[in-house]
Amino acid sequence: MEKELKDIRAYHLKVIEDKLIELITHKNRILAAQSEEIGEFKKSFDEFKPLTQVIQKTTRECLQEFQSKLDEADRQAIQQFHQQQDQLEYHGNRLNQQQSQMQMIQELFEQQTKQRFQIAEMQKAKERMLNELQQTKEELEQKKFLKQQLMNNFKLSQQQYIQLQQELKDTEHQKRYWNNLLQEAKGNIRVYCRIRPNSQEDMLLLNGECTLVLRVPERFLKSTNCQKESSFNFEHIFNQEADQQEIYNELSDLVQNVVDGHNVCIFAYGQTGSGKTYTMQGDDYNKGVIPRAVEQIFQERQGMLELGWQTSIRVGFQEIYNEQSRDLITNQKCDEVKLLDVKDIIEVADHFNTAKKNRQVAETLSNEVSSRSHFIFQLNLQGHLGDKQINSTLNLIDLAGSERANVAKTEGDRFTETKAINKSLSALGDVFNALYTKQQHVPFRNSKLTFSLYKYMEGSSKTLMMVNISSRSEDFQQTLASLRFAEKVKSCQIKK
Ligand SMILES: Nc1ncnc2c1ncn2[C@@H]1O[C@H](COP(=O)(O)OP(=O)(O)O)[C@@H](O)[C@H]1O
Ligand SMILES: [Mg+2]
Repeated sequence: MEKELKDIRAYHLKVIEDKLIELITHKNRILAAQSEEIGEFKKSFDEFKPLTQVIQKTTRECLQEFQSKLDEADRQAIQQFHQQQDQLEYHGNRLNQQQSQMQMIQELFEQQTKQRFQIAEMQKAKERMLNELQQTKEELEQKKFLKQQLMNNFKLSQQQYIQLQQELKDTEHQKRYWNNLLQEAKGNIRVYCRIRPNSQEDMLLLNGECTLVLRVPERFLKSTNCQKESSFNFEHIFNQEADQQEIYNELSDLVQNVVDGHNVCIFAYGQTGSGKTYTMQGDDYNKGVIPRAVEQIFQERQGMLELGWQTSIRVGFQEIYNEQSRDLITNQKCDEVKLLDVKDIIEVADHFNTAKKNRQVAETLSNEVSSRSHFIFQLNLQGHLGDKQINSTLNLIDLAGSERANVAKTEGDRFTETKAINKSLSALGDVFNALYTKQQHVPFRNSKLTFSLYKYMEGSSKTLMMVNISSRSEDFQQTLASLRFAEKVKSCQIKK
């Protein structure tokens, strides 16, 4: 076995050795062939060298040409690039323009959408309105029908209204007639008495409705040395508590007479301080007869206007001092005052203030003019309706103080003044007496005062004397004098 192995190994070694020899031989052959080929190539190379140089040169020229072409191409490319850039910019701008146009179009589109929406809404509204119109038409038809009915009713009412208005006119006429009758029943001349309030010295007590009883106190009795109880009768006595409204209630029917076409005179008589001016003018909170009468006449005038009367109201302010008459608006001496047209109460108040101022100026120049002169407020009402006409005057007179009775004790200016006052007041008393007792002759001419007023005291005229008295014990003599004046006026009986 071992021998066999040895042989195999030797065999293989022999084979490998042969192969190696073969390989080396082959290698040598290849090497020889390669060096031959290299030689060949070298030879060829040398042969080709000039050609290579030509090729190199050509190649360089080609390269240069190529380079210049490349540059040219580059330049053109750049130029094209710029052109394209310009175009790009141009197209960019166009694009922007188109974009803004697009935006505008879009906005327009949106607007259109909105408008379309609005149109739709309007369409709906139109439909609604058409419906409403239809309804209104129907209502209008109904109203037309109602109107026709109303017109018929109205015609009926109008006839009734005309009838009622006629009845109202008749009633108005009757009212005037009855008021006048009432007035005549009350007497065309009235004497009222008003006691000024004076609670501390209560010497006058009211007893009964219209009878004033003077109860003379102990000490006063002694000083006058007389003891008697006097009673006076008047149409009305207002005690100390009576307010301005209460007074006016009792004479507003007289003022109504002015509206009914009669002249009216209301006098305030009494000593200075007895309340004449308070009764006639009052103050801001307690309006007197004058402002209340003006208000009443303006109210009545309104009613007349509504009935179709054409009216005008005029006022005048007069002062009589020392038998001389003065217009308190023009502040001039005059025989007759100038009456001024007034359209409302405010205008009357304005004129009144002017008159008051003018009187006050005179007062500062000569003391107490107001208590020594007569003040006359006149209001004339004129009106016509068809053939009916009225022209009547209201005279409200605040007389001079009645206290200066004793002429013997005065002298100089005072003497003249006192004489003038006495004259006019006694003339007034006489006139009242003559009118009250319905005498044939009424002595109007005896004083400036009575003469100025005679046409307003005659005939169907209504006259009221408001005797103002004080209740103070020291005024007792004057109070008694005033009451006696009133007594003379109406010849009232005195119980002794
Ligand atoms: N009835 C009255 N109620 C309240 N005050 C009165 C009344 N009567 C008069 N007076 C007051 O007495 C004072 C004198 O009155 P007045 O009217 O000036 O008197 P005459 O005008 O008679 O001189 C005034 O201050 C007035 O306000
Ligand atoms: Mg006075």
